[in-house]
Amino acid sequence: MIGKDKYSTNLVTTNWLSNKIMAWNDEENTRQMPWKGEKEPYFIWLSEIILQQTRVEQGLLYYHRFIYYFPNVRKLAAADEKKLMKLWEGLGYYSRCRNLHKAAKIIVADYHGVFPKSYENILKLPGVGPYTAAAISSFAYNEPYAVVDGNVVRVLSRFFGSYKSINNTDGKRWFGEVAQRLLPKKKAGVYNQAIMDLGAVICKPRKPQCEICPLHNKCVAFLLGKQQEFPVKNKRIRKKQRWFSFLILIRDGKVLIQKRVDNDIWKGLYQFPVYETSSFVPTSQLNRRISKDGLQIKLGKVAFSASQELTHQTIHGRFYVLLVTQSFKGIEGEWLTPRAAAKRAFPKMPAIFLNNLGCVNGKFDGSFSKK
Ligand code: ADE
Repeated sequence: MIGKDKYSTNLVTTNWLSNKIMAWNDEENTRQMPWKGEKEPYFIWLSEIILQQTRVEQGLLYYHRFIYYFPNVRKLAAADEKKLMKLWEGLGYYSRCRNLHKAAKIIVADYHGVFPKSYENILKLPGVGPYTAAAISSFAYNEPYAVVDGNVVRVLSRFFGSYKSINNTDGKRWFGEVAQRLLPKKKAGVYNQAIMDLGAVICKPRKPQCEICPLHNKCVAFLLGKQQEFPVKNKRIRKKQRWFSFLILIRDGKVLIQKRVDNDIWKGLYQFPVYETSSFVPTSQLNRRISKDGLQIKLGKVAFSASQELTHQTIHGRFYVLLVTQSFKGIEGEWLTPRAAAKRAFPKMPAIFLNNLGCVNGKFDGSFSKK
């Protein structure tokens, strides 16, 4: 339907498309994942939350870890928050983990520990949006709700040659409605998994395998040789740039750490005291700010720097190591040996630094070593 907006997804096309996908799934789909075919909503929920913003290969380890430590929702609800965050460490987007915990507590308190059955109630759980609610309710209960994730959008936009943008309201509505029309209502769970698999293994972002795709006879993008034009994304606004200058204060072999409590990234995780700026500032300028704050320290060389791309922001981190005396005060926090600190959950960048601190018998030896 290149160019025009109105649906050309008539019933003949939609039945043809879903039949082709189901046949491909029965005969050729060899993709295996531990949660595939899973009927236990608790496990499906865990896998789907882990897979939000995470690649399947990376999510696997965490999935196994979570079902090992928390084999049921009651165990998860009763988990110690620090331990939970530590188990999530490295996955990023920690609000997912906090919401998982909150939702588990709600399921225990309001549903007697039994996962809710209706799409509407699943959707009410913290951290669950329309995609996740559709995935859980269709996989576990075969409820007729279509999943719309990046894979599905790619398959549909190419097949129909739709220039609808996937990141505006109109485009989202279009993809949601089309996906829902295509859904074979009696086989919702199997079909939802099949179209996601087709997107992941055949209709791939960069090198789609059109020759072996069951849809190629009617795929607009393939027939026009324009696979790379789909799906259309509006240009992103420039990401917010944040500069974090971390102070690694060492006193008698212990390092000062703080918990992030504000409603911001990494809430609930631990970090080193930090000065944040919206642009790069030289160390001399930071030192002026430090002395204005009345702190008796002076930053020297940057020991380590790194940056991290998040969805809406880029974090530029710099780490300064300072040995301070017993009388040092002025910054709140906990003084812990690096080994004890490493038991807390840190965001990726400070965690990398912490794991590389030169330690002798769990005590910081004043050096920084890259392992
Ligand atoms: N991404 C998120 N959930 C998925 C699933 N069930 N199968 C494949 N990819 C996924």
